[in-house]
Parts: sequence; C-alpha cells; structure tokens
Amino acid sequence: IRRQQINDLLKSTAFNTEVKVMGWVKTFRNNQFIALNDGSCMANIQVVVDFNNTPENLLKRITTGAAITVEGILVESLGKGQTVEIKASKVEILGDSDAEKYPLQPKKHSLEFLREIAHLRFRTNTFNAVFKVRHALAFAIHQFYNERGFVYMHTPVITASDAEGAGEMFRVTTLDFDHTPRTEDGKVDFSADFFGRSTNLTVSGQLEGELAATAFGKIYTFGPTFRAENSNTTRHLAEFWMIEPEVAFADLENNMELAEDMMKYVISYAKDHCAEELAFLNNRLLEEEKQKPQNERSELSLLEKLDFCLNNDFQRLTYTEAIDILKASKPNQKKQFKYLIEGWGADLQSEHERYLVEKHFKKPVILTDYPKDIKSFYMRLNDDGKTVAAMDILFPGIGEMIGGSQREERLDVLTKRMEEMGVPQDELWWYLDTRRFGTVPHAGFGLGFERLVLFVTGMTNIRDVIAFPRFPKSAEF
Ligand code: 4AD
Ligand code: MG
Repeated sequence: IRRQQINDLLKSTAFNTEVKVMGWVKTFRNNQFIALNDGSCMANIQVVVDFNNTPENLLKRITTGAAITVEGILVESLGKGQTVEIKASKVEILGDSDAEKYPLQPKKHSLEFLREIAHLRFRTNTFNAVFKVRHALAFAIHQFYNERGFVYMHTPVITASDAEGAGEMFRVTTLDFDHTPRTEDGKVDFSADFFGRSTNLTVSGQLEGELAATAFGKIYTFGPTFRAENSNTTRHLAEFWMIEPEVAFADLENNMELAEDMMKYVISYAKDHCAEELAFLNNRLLEEEKQKPQNERSELSLLEKLDFCLNNDFQRLTYTEAIDILKASKPNQKKQFKYLIEGWGADLQSEHERYLVEKHFKKPVILTDYPKDIKSFYMRLNDDGKTVAAMDILFPGIGEMIGGSQREERLDVLTKRMEEMGVPQDELWWYLDTRRFGTVPHAGFGLGFERLVLFVTGMTNIRDVIAFPRFPKSAEF
C-alpha cells in the first residue's frame, strides 16, 4: 500500500481500509496513543498501538521526535476533536530520537527559545503555519502578476551598482588571495577585487528591472536582496526578499493602484488558501493578548485586521499633509512626536509612521510626494521642484511595507539629480541609455516580502518569518 499524507487522511471517510503513513512522533501516551505529524498540516493523526502485541524494545523507541512508519486500519475516532485515527498493525522506526536530548519538548516553547534552535523550529505548529502562509503568499504574488501579463525577470544578485545610492552594500570579493589585485602598498585593491571589478550584493533589482520594463512593458522581480545595515530591529534583515514590479507608460497614480490591488489580492488569497493556519495564528495571538493589560490589547484580532485591510481603501495623502497632521498631534507621554514640529523636510521616523496608520487613520496609508532630499536619485521631480513622485505604503503594526515611485524619465533632469546627489553617471551609463533611446514615463515599487508575511501571520519579529534569518551576529548556518 502507498503512503498517504496525514492532511488527506484526516479528511477521509474510507473507514476500515488499510493505510500507511510516515511521520514524526509528537507525543506517545500510555504506551498506546501516538500523536503523529508529517508536516502536511499542523494537526496530528492519532495512532493507536496494540501494546500487548508490540515488543517492549520497540515501544521504548517511540519517542518524541522519532520518525516512524505506521501501517494499520483507518477507523472512526471516539476521541474529542478528531474524526479518524489509525489502529496500527505495524510500527517501524525510521529514525530514533533521544527524548532526553531532543530540544523540542511536547509543550509550548517561547519564540525566543525557538530562535535559538532555528534549525528545528519548523517542526512546531507555529512555524508550520507561518511557512505555509509564506508559501501561499509567494505563490499568490506570481499568480497576480502572471494573470496581468507581467514577465518575471531574474535580476542579478552580484552587481556593480548601488541601486539605492545609500551605500548599504556587502562587497563581493574572491578569496583567491594570490591573484587578488593589490595597490602599490600591498593592500587589496577594492576597485578590482572581483576578477578586475568592484562588485556587491544587490540592494534592489530596480535598475535592471527598468531596463526590462522599457522593453517588455511590464515586469516584476522576486528575489533576495541585501542591506549591510547594522540594525538589530524586529523589522530589518541583512538578507530579505523583495518583489519589484516595474511598468512602462505608467505614472504614480497607476503605481498606487497596482500596489493596492496586489496587496488585497495576495492577502485575500492567503485567507482562502490558509484558513486553518490563519485560524491557528489568530488564536495564538488572542492567547497572547490575554496576557496583556486591557489598555494595551489590540482592538482587532488578526483575522479582523486582514478583513479590514481588504474592505477599505488605503488612505492616500501627501507627505506635506502628513507633516501637518503630525504637527497638530499632541506629543504622547513619551514625547515621541515632538521634534517633528521642526517640520517639513524631516524624514519620518517609524514612530511617526505608526502614529499615522495606527492612531490617526487606523488603516493602510499611501504617503506620496516626499521632499526630494530624503529620497533616491531616480524618483521623478515634481513641478514644484521640491518634491518627488514617491510613494511609501505604511501598514498598521509594520510601518513601511512598500517603497516606490514614478521614475525620472527626462535625461537632463535625471543627470542633474545624479550630480547633486553624487551618484556616478559613468558607472550607470547603461541605465542612462534607457533615457537616451525611447524614454517613457514609468513607475514601480518594492514590497518587502517578510514584512508582508509579518502582517498576514501577525508575527511580531521579522526573524520568525524567514527560514534562515541573516542579521548582525546571526546563527551559524
Ligand atoms: O524602500 P526600499 O529601500 O526601496 C527600494 O529598494 C526600491 N528600489 C524599490 C523599487 O522601487 N523597486 O525597499 C523596499 C521595501 C521597503 O518598503 C521594505 O518593505 C523592504 O523593502 N525593506 C526591508 N525589509 C527587511 N529588511 C530590510 N533591511 C529592508 N529594507 C527595505
Ligand atoms: Mg523605503
């Protein structure tokens, strides 16, 4: 007989037929009841062992964490909360697990503890749910763009350019020290240490994406990006995944529409395809909220937050309007908003963003038209000469989810901005070619994938929504 997955068996009504499953033991009670999980769902299937006819030395090896094969008969379960169970006729050990040494005990572990054993945490229900949702969101993104005729481009991980002009790059170098180019005083020549060139890990696929968009019309990228920022926050990673659509013949308005449509599409997809996982995560959060004092509890549950986001238009306003709101806001007890009274031109700190989305509007906000001095060189200069056609989408509980803009398509304006901002034109000659030959209005944005997963799963630390988080002093694998 063929092995079946536990998620299929749990829905099966083929009682009294022979079945075979393989999985990992979660618990083994009274030498009789195995809770078995194979990763296909969070739920376990109960396996009932006939302990009178099972050798003692085999029973001893059915321990938490052990991998086993079970053959038996599928029967209706009398137990509470389960509809089927397996009456085992044969149990085989595939891989032993020393219960004394196995770090995952059959109890609720804290997320902090699980971060220490990140190599095993996928075996918990919470991480099973989070990574199923992550998978569904990734799939939904591809489906969204595919349905709309976008071409999926793979932009390079190793590049010679700094797309954001912020200098937050990891250098790529060879370890072939004997042949590494040296300066006269014997030091590594960083301008040529990657086979004669200076290169880094990409911070964004945007510039390459623009090349493709001005050929295919509509493209998107979805790949790993890297930021060498030494920040230890719950929202930043040194390696994160970014989705970057880029559309020719599009302006900021079209860009905002695309972003809002995409967010709603993928959240709604996750709700439809991960109902069980989201219900589990919703309950998990409700339990956590109960531990908090009444006045710190969140007004909406996770599922209500998702619905709220789906059923409401994102609030659109300009940076200038946002500053006015912040200026008029009373400083809270910690006086977090005080210094914004300084006013126009200041970059928004995460406290300000959170005030706007969580306290003032209480919904996702699209902020547009930032001062040019706090944004990247490629953003299109508005007619006022002071602001650029930028947009940041801010989400409750997350802050900045998306950053994007209409791009500066006018060669003369772009090169002037590059000069002002110290962005080397000779290195970006290929980028400037898109403006030399058939330039068109175009726009795009970048969605931080882990921040999306945070919002949809209700997790609070970005290190818990990526399999192998990279941050300063991160784990050794
Ligand atoms: O705002 P950013 O830096 O924009 C760009 O890179 C543009 N080139 C995108 C574009 O227009 N094609 O980054 C985009 C998004 C942010 O809004 C945030 O969600 C996420 O990427 N992000 C990070 N996520 C996790 N860790 C970090 N260190 C991040 N930095 C940015
Ligand atoms: Mg940004």
